[in-house]
Amino acid sequence: MKKKAGNIINGDFTNKDILSLDQFSPNDLTKLFTLTNKMKKIAQKAKPSNILAGNIITLLFYEPSSRTFGSFAAAIKQLGGQTIEIQDPQHFSSVSKGETFEDTIRVFEAYSDAIVIRDKTVGQAQKVADAAFFVPIINAGDGIGEHPTQALLDMYTLYEKHNRLEGLTGVLAGDLLNGRTVHSLIRGLSLYKKNTLYLLSPKELQLSKEEHNAIKAKGVELITINSEKDMPKNADFWYWTRVQKERFTSVEAYEKVKNKFIVTEKLVKEYAGKDTIIMHPLPRVGEIDPAVDADPRAVYLRNEIRNGMYIRMALIALILGKA
Ligand code: CP
Repeated sequence: MKKKAGNIINGDFTNKDILSLDQFSPNDLTKLFTLTNKMKKIAQKAKPSNILAGNIITLLFYEPSSRTFGSFAAAIKQLGGQTIEIQDPQHFSSVSKGETFEDTIRVFEAYSDAIVIRDKTVGQAQKVADAAFFVPIINAGDGIGEHPTQALLDMYTLYEKHNRLEGLTGVLAGDLLNGRTVHSLIRGLSLYKKNTLYLLSPKELQLSKEEHNAIKAKGVELITINSEKDMPKNADFWYWTRVQKERFTSVEAYEKVKNKFIVTEKLVKEYAGKDTIIMHPLPRVGEIDPAVDADPRAVYLRNEIRNGMYIRMALIALILGKA
């Protein structure tokens, strides 16, 4: 089937590329989350499903991944589908012989019904979507650009805990410049009214001016802070992130800014409220003390990981027209 032109979801996910949170409306997210609730039950084995029987999806990852790769593979298999799994195509595909990415994409769209792509370059997922004639593309992270399926699972987690996505107060901490999960999440939260985000990062890793202004223009209140002491008490959520070492050109520059802000039991005790949830897209490399993991408000190793599989089950089913 020829792909549909344009990416705005507008109630219809079928055959659409998923590249950015800008494609969604609150109604689209409600539709996705409603199906995600059903997928959660399927995954918990209350109700086995075969809705993707006969479907094959290619997972083409030019950058390393544990969660995104693993959860897409698990999500497809939970629904009876199959995967072609290629990690590190530079070494394990004909890319190593000099094949262009356009040719690679045309090969895998011949073998499968959708392609999930992770790449180190901003905008590459869009280029892949332009190169694919027939099958939808899902952006699983394009450099420092976006990581839409991570933001979808983060927003589902927020909705699950707070029963709303508007009027939230959150703290976003860490590498706001290079963190693609942050870039997608702020776009997602900008779809809703009256959200306030405190931005805590080293000066060098602040949200770019362009991005800051674009999100502010959409009505999100953005408050830049330089110290944990300026965090609000009892926020609805904290979204901590890793300083993205792989985006630095020198080890010294990375060492200078890494782990400036760490979630400790003391910080949680002083600033979190009983309903504050502590989130992290993972992997973490020191910015959350493992002592915090046992706190029931820490959802990064529990809800977020599982929700990643449920949301991807729902998304794939919708774009393949199976739900
Ligand atoms: N959160 C996330 O994208 O993790 P991976 O890099 O392991 O996929």
